[in-house]
Amino acid sequence: MLPYATLIPLDRQLSTPLSTQIANALIRRIRQGVVSANAKLPGSRVLAEMLGVHRKTVLAAFDELTAQGWLTQIPAKGTFVSSQLPDVTPCPLTSSAPAGMAQQTGFTTRKRPFLEIPVLKTVATLSFDDGMPDLRLAPVAQLGRNYRNILNRGFQQHLMGYADTNGTLFFRQQLANYLRDSRGIPATPDHIFTTRGSIMAIYLLSKLLLEPGDVVLVGELSYQSANMVFDECGANRLKIPVDAQGLVVAAIEAICQKQPVRLVYVTPHHHYPTTVTLSAERRIKLLQLAEQYGFVVLEDDYDYDFHYAGSPILPLASADAAGMVVYVGSFTKSIAPAFRVGYMVCPPNLVAEIGYLRRIIDRQGDTILEQAIAEMLAEGEVQKHLKKAQKTYHARRDHFCDLLKTTLGDAVSFTIPDGGMAVWTEFDKAIDLHQLAARCRDRGLMFNNGRFYQPTAPTVHHTRLGFASKTPDELEQGVAVLKKCTMHNV
Ligand SMILES: Cc1ncc(COP(=O)(O)O)c(C=O)c1O
Repeated sequence: MLPYATLIPLDRQLSTPLSTQIANALIRRIRQGVVSANAKLPGSRVLAEMLGVHRKTVLAAFDELTAQGWLTQIPAKGTFVSSQLPDVTPCPLTSSAPAGMAQQTGFTTRKRPFLEIPVLKTVATLSFDDGMPDLRLAPVAQLGRNYRNILNRGFQQHLMGYADTNGTLFFRQQLANYLRDSRGIPATPDHIFTTRGSIMAIYLLSKLLLEPGDVVLVGELSYQSANMVFDECGANRLKIPVDAQGLVVAAIEAICQKQPVRLVYVTPHHHYPTTVTLSAERRIKLLQLAEQYGFVVLEDDYDYDFHYAGSPILPLASADAAGMVVYVGSFTKSIAPAFRVGYMVCPPNLVAEIGYLRRIIDRQGDTILEQAIAEMLAEGEVQKHLKKAQKTYHARRDHFCDLLKTTLGDAVSFTIPDGGMAVWTEFDKAIDLHQLAARCRDRGLMFNNGRFYQPTAPTVHHTRLGFASKTPDELEQGVAVLKKCTMHNV
């Protein structure tokens, strides 16, 4: 008999189950020809004894290999290696040896330099990020339980098939309730289109509505990713000033008086990146202009859930009886960026058209994830998490702003943000922000040198310093590094 104990080495430190290790080792030995086709394997009891495992473990491995076609189990006779092995060696396309994958295409591609801006990534080291949630607070245990339970529930197997392009009905129902209760948007499930995050919503909408040359108005500082989408669609993107009350709506009116405007992109709750809130008067005026001039208001409400100064102003979409606003939101900030579920709220005719467009690049979203989040909404788990996170981030904002003021003094200036997860910070003009960021990085603290927010400006003195994802301790460590490096820099 072959020395199976040597042929099937088991490592009990691995998380891979022993039955899987046995099955994988046997496949390897069969492929190598060490265990040949038609060979009879030892009985499960004998093999279990040789390997020092429970007999059930060997039976599980045998069953798995039988299901895959490697083994044949014949009652009263035993377990045999199949005569026809399931591994089929593919025929090479040509007789010459494969050259490896090409490093360059053999055809031409169209370069899009305006898309070549590095993406912001979550880093494992100490950082002041762009304004990210604390992933350690995310309700992943509950989400994971819901996800697993859905997969285990036989009656919900249809969720694993092709589903509604617009998102599952249950998700859209729960989201409609949530949007009504949390921000006064009177949407029905028919007003909701589910996406894989806000940026997909912005892309689909722009692709559908914009023709090359269409005028799109954005803040002079605005969300880079949205700008890139508008540029990709060939829009004529014009910049509108932003002051302490948000987008200067009078400037929008002045442009409308001169030329047709197709779309205005706005982050009214906390303007990105400067964090200011669009005043109620300007919101009313913007809605009125949209009706008068017929432009689309694309309302990106990326961080509605995190507001610390009294009652937040309700979104533009909550007062849009004329159907001029397309409201975009996502769970990427309220749960975590990795869970790609976002949404668009707009009249049902647009939902239908967006669905036709989405279908040609992405048949549907992650229906199981949508269902898992919908159950969390129905059970009030998302709402509970947001209440706790809001309280935590509020305290962190206060602590961070105090630290910045007391530790860095005149080296920085900022307005305490009414909400969101980052402070729009201006550094003293004598400080080279690019060098400061590099110096801090060498000492273990990452933050953006400001170029991401103003890629074409001659000099940059502002950046966003995210506070929400860091504990008070981490904020203190980060500010200490910032102080040390700032002193060197001035
Ligand atoms: C202005 C703005 N909109 C939207 C988003 C969220 O995008 P997504 O939901 O695609 O992750 C972000 C994320 O940082 C953002 O800053």
